[in-house]
Amino acid sequence: MSAVQEAFGYGEQEWRPQEGLYLGGCSAWELADQFGTPLLVLAESEIRSRCRRYRRAMESYAPGGRVIYAGKAFLNTAMALLIAQEGLCLDVVSGGELYIALNAGFPPERVVMHGNNKTPEELSDALEHGVGTLVVDNFPELLLLEDLARSKGKRPAILLRLIPGVEAHTHEYIRTGQADSKFGISLEQGQAMAATRHALASLHVQLLGFHCHIGSQILALDAYLMAVEAMMDFIGQVARATGWTASVLDMGGGLGIRYLPEDTPPSIETYLQTLAEAVRAQARRQGVPVPRLWVEPGRSIVGEAGTALYRVGSVKEAGRRRLYAAVDGGMTDNPRVALYQARYQAWLLKAPGRRPGAVRDVTVAGHCCESGDILVPHVRMSEPERGDLVAIPASGAYQYAMSSNYNGYPRPAVVLVRDGRAMLIARREAYPDLVRLDLVPPDLRQRASEPADQTGSAAVASLDGTKGEA
Ligand code: LLP
Repeated sequence: MSAVQEAFGYGEQEWRPQEGLYLGGCSAWELADQFGTPLLVLAESEIRSRCRRYRRAMESYAPGGRVIYAGKAFLNTAMALLIAQEGLCLDVVSGGELYIALNAGFPPERVVMHGNNKTPEELSDALEHGVGTLVVDNFPELLLLEDLARSKGKRPAILLRLIPGVEAHTHEYIRTGQADSKFGISLEQGQAMAATRHALASLHVQLLGFHCHIGSQILALDAYLMAVEAMMDFIGQVARATGWTASVLDMGGGLGIRYLPEDTPPSIETYLQTLAEAVRAQARRQGVPVPRLWVEPGRSIVGEAGTALYRVGSVKEAGRRRLYAAVDGGMTDNPRVALYQARYQAWLLKAPGRRPGAVRDVTVAGHCCESGDILVPHVRMSEPERGDLVAIPASGAYQYAMSSNYNGYPRPAVVLVRDGRAMLIARREAYPDLVRLDLVPPDLRQRASEPADQTGSAAVASLDGTKGEA
């Protein structure tokens, strides 16, 4: 049995003994040949089935609740349409994500807008396009939004983002619920109560309730229970102090996925059931009506649906024990390893006609000029050779979304697979894309053929055409 077979369990992936890895019914090799590498392959049925499981579980455990896909995990036009078709709402964090959604035809009333520093332009866009709910991150933003809403004669529905003071067990850069977080309004020193009273008294916003997000890639639900308790405690305090009760509690996103075989995230159903029961129990404790539960999953919808395919280039031994297989992608299409020490599996797919070699401890290295550009530091796989493929599962979330052109590498293509059909949903960038935003002052172009004096006192032309010394 090969390493790939042993590691199975991702929906829409299939190992066919004679033919190798299939994704959504398409051969990984054929996809790589047709669309090139690096390639992000997204399994459409896996995305849809996760959306449906979220909606069904929400209907069973917290009827009237909302599932809001967090677009930051992966958003483009096709994805926005898919989420719209599945009946989910959409969380956007910037004017740019809002543009992608609206441009795709996503219904604005189903958009929830986030951001810890929304600009007046972003807020105005949201108001003018009729964005359904705005999540206000801080007091100055509340004042700014009121001003804009007053001048436009609108009264947007809002949630206030609060800091529940809970630390999730996850990497510190993807943890957000702790007391000194840059996101949200503190429950301490009366800040949250002051903002709530202000919003309740405002003629220009309509307060629906509260939001929190404690972090991402969360594998144990205990942190959520603490966060629900802190949030419901506050909802109880507000009810006693003002007589008003929140009708919405948005618990953000964060449910983890299985990057490694030993990762055991709770199921979507267990996660929602646990949250819903905790909200009900805490509402009883506080003597307030049960608020509607909203959640904002990103990674747990698209993460496991994605497989990244790379082609092996140079293979070399370094020192006595390290075998490097360099691939044609890296931190440019997946910065998560360099940023958060994220860990992945990697499967070697032998080129057709090649036999698997001895199993080795391999380091899959990226192509960038950075020692830290390693995709998988140690993985046991059959000895790789130039031309083989490496498949990295669980690559759908926060990879393409965070990709860059560092070192002048074009972004990969993204292909959606379903029932043996492959449809391109983002074309591969080409070299001309790398210069499409560049502008050249006329003087610079004129002088490009006149090399500077290389002895040290290079004469340079300033932008207004006069000469200066560099
Ligand atoms: N809601 C809010 C307010 C968020 O800040 C986030 C993620 C989500 C929902 C979705 O969380 P999810 O269900 O995907 O965990 N780049 C990092 C992850 C950053 C997450 C930022 N916020 C990574 O690659 O792990």
